[in-house]
Order: sequence, then structure tokens, then C-alpha cells
Amino acid sequence: MTRRCVCPGSFDPVTNGHVDVIHRAAQLFDEVVVAVLHNPAKEGTFPVAERMELVRGALPACLSVRVEEFGGRLLVDVCRDVGATAIVKGLRGGTDFAYELPMALMNRHLSGIETVFLPGNPAYEHVSSSLVKEVALHGGDVAGLVPDNVLQALHALRAPQER
Ligand code: PNS
Repeated sequence: MTRRCVCPGSFDPVTNGHVDVIHRAAQLFDEVVVAVLHNPAKEGTFPVAERMELVRGALPACLSVRVEEFGGRLLVDVCRDVGATAIVKGLRGGTDFAYELPMALMNRHLSGIETVFLPGNPAYEHVSSSLVKEVALHGGDVAGLVPDNVLQALHALRAPQER
């Protein structure tokens, strides 16, 4: 039986913290489905198609990972449809845990699926998609915090404002 997990998120854009968690999930499961989902609490910056390309471009081809868009669907429905036995999320600290715990409990309530929390790499504890966008848009250097392809995409995002 293929042991499959889902790594869900907005990935707007993917950061090195996300990439680290995806790599580690791939060591624990036969296959990882990176699910690009809509978070109603967040207004998107990058179009979903670009987010998916950025995630794909940030991962080595040899990794057993699929990147798919699931729009505004419930995560538990996505997990059922792809045949996942667990949801994998990274935790940067207590604030993340407070945000993630109710979702993990709700998802287990809805379908019985378990959420596996991986402690985030402390090197990326301060890294979030929203912060890297804010810093990059104001001309700050986020090299080393996001994959190289994302760094380029962030520069392109900034370019129109500089004109
Ligand atoms: O990267 P994010 O924005 O923190 O990811 C949050 C996300 C997209 C994983 C979460 O909003 C989600 O699961 N959305 C799908 C809809 C859903 O299932 N909502 C109920 C969660 S209990």
C-alpha cells in the first residue's frame, strides 16, 4: 500500500521553510501531495498557477511529490480523493500550534484523518510567505529564505512598483 500524505497550504509563495517540511514529509511517506488551497482569510498575491510552478521549480524532480491545486475545497475531501492517510504541517513555534491545532482537530472530527506536525527548521522560524513578500516589496533581501525561483518572482513583483 502506498503511504501518501498531503502537505496543504496557500504557498503564496513557497518558502524554504515549506520546502524543508516537504522534503522531510517525503522521507516519512511514499508520496507527498502538495495541495495548493484557498485560505479564505488571505487575499492572494501570486496567481495559483504561478504558485504551483514555483513549488514545482523549488523541488528536485527525483522527489516523490505531486503538486496540485484544489481551489476552495475542504482539505478533508482532498485527502479522501487522493487517498492520503495523513496531513503534514510544519510548526515554527507556539503561535503556529495555536493556529493549527483547531484545524487538526476539526479535520479529525470531519473524517478521522490525523495531522502530523513536524518541528520547523529553526533557521526559518522567522520566515513566512507574507513577511518575505513585505520585505521583498520594500527592497529588502530575502535571499536564502526562499528558493531561487521564488526570489526571481519576488523581484518581478517589485519591478512594476519601481517604474
Ligand atoms: O498556508 P496557509 O494559508 O496557512 O494554509 C491554510 C490552509 C489552506 C491549509 C487552510 O486554510 C485549509 O485547509 N483550507 C482548505 C479549506 C478547509 O478545509 N478549511 C477547514 C480547515 S479545518
